[in-house]
Amino acid sequence: MRAIRIDRFGTPDVLRVVDVPEPEPEPAPGEVLIRVAATAVNPVDEKTREGAIGEGTPPLPMTLGWELAGTVVDGGDSGLRAGEPVVAMSHQLASGRGTWAELVALPAAAVARAPRTAGPAAAATLPLPGLTAWQTLDWLAVEAGERLLVAGAGGAVGGLALQMARARGVEVDALVSRDEQAAFARAHGAGLATTDRRALREGGYDAVFDTFGAFVTGAVADGGRYASIATQAGPVPDLSGRGVRTTVHQVREDGAALGELARLVDAGALRPRVHAVFALEEVRRAHERFRRGGLNGKLALVF
Ligand SMILES: NC(=O)c1ccc[n+]([C@@H]2O[C@H](COP(=O)([O-])OP(=O)(O)OC[C@H]3O[C@@H](n4cnc5c(N)ncnc54)[C@H](OP(=O)(O)O)[C@@H]3O)[C@@H](O)[C@H]2O)c1
Repeated sequence: MRAIRIDRFGTPDVLRVVDVPEPEPEPAPGEVLIRVAATAVNPVDEKTREGAIGEGTPPLPMTLGWELAGTVVDGGDSGLRAGEPVVAMSHQLASGRGTWAELVALPAAAVARAPRTAGPAAAATLPLPGLTAWQTLDWLAVEAGERLLVAGAGGAVGGLALQMARARGVEVDALVSRDEQAAFARAHGAGLATTDRRALREGGYDAVFDTFGAFVTGAVADGGRYASIATQAGPVPDLSGRGVRTTVHQVREDGAALGELARLVDAGALRPRVHAVFALEEVRRAHERFRRGGLNGKLALVF
């Protein structure tokens, strides 16, 4: 079967579509065998390809990729039937199980039924940013009527966090990078959408969801919550003197939550945003495009 692998770190040139052995046809207990239809590119894939992750990087050669949309080949004892469309996130750094392969065996607990209303390319862009947004919002525990600031609301995680928070009845403001992203944020229910951090309400937010290491700590109210997901930007400054709880959230596999996200998509409350779709063989071009930035949505890879 085909898989996208690297055997050394570097530029997109190190990405190779290679022929690798298929997983065992019978999944191990607790696992599901999936035929992948589509996957997507995430910032972590670029960092892994470059060798920028450091400690905790799986050994070379490795198959890259954190998310997939596909169909069940063998559901084992999971209750999923052969042929059912599914989505899944695989913590590629922790497990070494990359999703950029034609067949992938994953723990059943990481797999969910796919949204009925999204095609494979769109569905494949949901798992990693969707779970990151969902889990971080859970940590922030924002409730209807509270004020949330999303920094990076035009990005993959931020765009989904904005939509999920709005679906929970939260008032959301957006700090974004460009006018196009401000328009996206407004169209998805942001009150204020600005590229200017000086326009944010000082101390005006019950919670801040920081997706790029903005560290706009002055915006969070005393006694509030501040979560970053920008692991490589380092920890959030200590705000305990103001009674503000802080965290740098690390995403976890969670098929049950992913099922909730699929239902939100089908209910029209959550729209994955796809900038462009590439064929598997075009993976280097996809990474070059990713590197250039200025994206309005994710890059999907179809098999
Ligand atoms: N901790 C975890 O478990 C976890 C999970 C998922 C992702 N992450 C990390 O979280 C980050 C975001 O992921 P993502 O997939 O959402 O990436 P993304 O789609 O690239 O989103 C990042 C967003 O931040 C914006 N941005 C960057 N610098 C900005 C600035 N100075 N002012 C305003 N906006 C700015 C970007 O705008 P432009 O498009 O204009 O650059 C983009 O819209 C990445 O570093 C990723 O590695 C961590």
